[in-house]
Amino acid sequence: MDRVTLTRPDDWHVHLRDGASLASVVGHSAAWSGRILAMPNLKPPVTTVAMAQAYHARIRAALPEGASCTPLLSLYLTEETSVEEVWAAHQAGWVVAFKYYPMGATTHSEAGVRHLARCQPVLQAMAECGLPLQVHGEVTDPGVDVFAREARFIERELAPLLERLPELRVVFEHITTAEAVAFVRQAGAGVGATITPQHLLYNRNALFQGGIRPHYYCLPVLKKERHRQVLLEAVAEGHPRFFLGTDSAPHGRSTKEAACGCAGIYSAPLALPLYAEAFESVQALAKLEGFASHYGADFYRVPRNKDQITLVRHPWTVPDSYPYGDSVVVPLRAGERMEWQIESDTISQGS
Ligand code: DOR
Ligand code: ZN
Repeated sequence: MDRVTLTRPDDWHVHLRDGASLASVVGHSAAWSGRILAMPNLKPPVTTVAMAQAYHARIRAALPEGASCTPLLSLYLTEETSVEEVWAAHQAGWVVAFKYYPMGATTHSEAGVRHLARCQPVLQAMAECGLPLQVHGEVTDPGVDVFAREARFIERELAPLLERLPELRVVFEHITTAEAVAFVRQAGAGVGATITPQHLLYNRNALFQGGIRPHYYCLPVLKKERHRQVLLEAVAEGHPRFFLGTDSAPHGRSTKEAACGCAGIYSAPLALPLYAEAFESVQALAKLEGFASHYGADFYRVPRNKDQITLVRHPWTVPDSYPYGDSVVVPLRAGERMEWQIESDTISQGS
């Protein structure tokens, strides 16, 4: 198969940043996504509908001329989030979730939640109005091995949370382990998960290939091959509660190539070709459309996109970097060959 045409995908987890950085990256996502769910971990975080409204306007203003992509937002959950804010978010329509960052778990999570129990009334309101909670599923306990943080999170936080509030709709974000796949499989229809291209294509060896490789560092960190195989099995099977969320997370080159480099992998310009490569590696290209374009929309209860996009087998070399504000961002696969490419001029008309 040298061509794959699919319903236009949505990216249910992407970091667009702000200001000049936003302007540099948003077009890369808009080029192939119908909807882009922008993460709220700005500085300061997007914690209210009023802040989200302003950010939404900045994203729309930064979209390239003629882009038909719809930005959606998620609000940053804090221990101060009010029940009123949940209902206001629900009313807004384009706020489609709250994001739970355990305090200290990742980039700009200082304002995150220390004790999720303190958010119980807010979580209850989310369950009532059907607004999903997106979770960054890692414990922050420094005594827990960095590679075990997702598995411990399931036992210590996620399973108890769903026991307390079984009606809460949850998206387990950027899952990386066999334990997370098993958890989502046994959970009900209200629990879904996003999977990134890097966690389908790489194991943790990529971080140390001939030296330390900062551009393969993200959180949750890449895991062992055994886990990658389980993620691939879940998507190859076409399980409807696993869907596309790139977690594309740009950082200027100097903040990655540093003594203490930032977590985040930039994949937005090539994410769909990367997913195609991953699916093809397990003879599952036919399942790409469900994962990329159907299951996320179904989970978020929005209509699937009407138009289509075509991927062609057409080898190309990924640029060494892309402009990023007054810096540059190094993408995943920089300088390397890619097998698949988006045949952008075949995009059909539609809403
Ligand atoms: O690698 C990551 N980068 N993981 C996250 O959870 C946040 C993200 C970012 O914002 O850079
Ligand atoms: Zn993220």
